[in-house]
Amino acid sequence: MHLRCATCGHVVSIDTTMPWRCPYESGDRHHVLVIESSNAPTDDRENLGQKIFVEDPNPFVRYFDRLAVSRFARAQGLDDSETLSIVRELDDRVASVAGTGFRSTPLAVSTDLSDALGFTGNVWVKDETHNVAGSHKARHLFGILLHLVIAERTGRVPWGDDESRPPLAISSCGNAAIAASTLAAAADWPIDVFIPEWAGGIVVDTLDHLGARVHRCPRRESDPPGDPTVLRFREAVASGAVPFSVQGPENSLCLDGGRTIGWEIAEQLLAAGVDHLDAVYVQVGGGAFAASLSRGLGEGGVSAPLVAVQTEGCAPLSRAWTRYRESSTEARDLAADWTHYMWPWEHEPASLADGILDDETYDWVVDLREIERTGGRVVVAPEDVVRRAAELVPRSTGVEASPTGTAGVAGLVTEIDAGTLRGGDVLVVASGVVRR
Ligand SMILES: Cc1ncc(COP(=O)(O)O)c(C=O)c1O
Ligand SMILES: [Zn+2]
Repeated sequence: MHLRCATCGHVVSIDTTMPWRCPYESGDRHHVLVIESSNAPTDDRENLGQKIFVEDPNPFVRYFDRLAVSRFARAQGLDDSETLSIVRELDDRVASVAGTGFRSTPLAVSTDLSDALGFTGNVWVKDETHNVAGSHKARHLFGILLHLVIAERTGRVPWGDDESRPPLAISSCGNAAIAASTLAAAADWPIDVFIPEWAGGIVVDTLDHLGARVHRCPRRESDPPGDPTVLRFREAVASGAVPFSVQGPENSLCLDGGRTIGWEIAEQLLAAGVDHLDAVYVQVGGGAFAASLSRGLGEGGVSAPLVAVQTEGCAPLSRAWTRYRESSTEARDLAADWTHYMWPWEHEPASLADGILDDETYDWVVDLREIERTGGRVVVAPEDVVRRAAELVPRSTGVEASPTGTAGVAGLVTEIDAGTLRGGDVLVVASGVVRR
């Protein structure tokens, strides 16, 4: 297992401490280190029945051997039992802050939802609203936190003791910020959270309650194009903060722990006798979620076309996908031509699904690789469909997911409306609990 830069091909050993970004990245974040491993996505049927996990409800224990962090810890001289006790200790501390540690989340067919949609197939709903901090985001971040704590305990970090730790930093307006602040509180690690000027209400109250240092980020006249929260976050990282980010180009390891949801779904589906889905609909903002979920599904032995869902109010990945299909570039060369495919959305992003309004799909490279590998596509949901899905999902499934977390269903509805999807098994992920 190692990391390889999709842009320049540079290989970084999995033994490396804090391998956040490619060393040849020069400030534009147009390089991304991607995990390559022997259990990379495969359609190899022979491996399907293999048990690649230990029986434990915590996915970071259950799939320990597949995680980059297990290899890193071994390279630092820890044996697996020592590392697993660190995982359990941190998980206990997460549970004391969040009310739950990391546990497998429910997956079930919702006939009420398929009936409400007039869909003749099975709609599998993965309910991530019960994950730590109410969304899947903590999965991306716990892998990074484990890496940090292991590096610290094995004396591989440049700071001396707990007291001189650099702060963690994240830019986000919602679920990722709450997940990051929850994990930071559990590890007793200071965190700076960069949020949009307009953010407020329950999210900010929650961040305050968790002890995060919250920074509002109005656009400055001197700012280049792009999200000002991301600009301020990068300044903090340049001054020494740890990028506690859910975007692969900011921190490659977010794409490690993020795969646990894919492995978990694959195991749940295989247990139900399903090894193929006709589509998996994933709402896409920064793109790390779709990238790691789809990889995890493939690595877990389930084949499923990835359908990346964006809203008409902000669809940079759809733009990239169109250009990709028009070009003859091979998937592996995509990243070298970064700005031909990905640049900030020109209009003010707007949608009820406000958690996926990232003006760039930062993880577009792995998203397009996964769409290509799985024979998937990008769907842009009209705003009225986003609204319909947001009402429909809580009503027919009882899952209290926010409009961002039901936007994948809006992609499914869009395809049903267009008549391009008939029966079969499809999967959606409801994530991002409604906070009251
Ligand atoms: C509930 C929910 N679903 C999906 C996403 C999309 O994840 P990503 O930004 O990695 O594409 C987000 C976050 O942005 C989210 O909060
Ligand atoms: Zn590079």
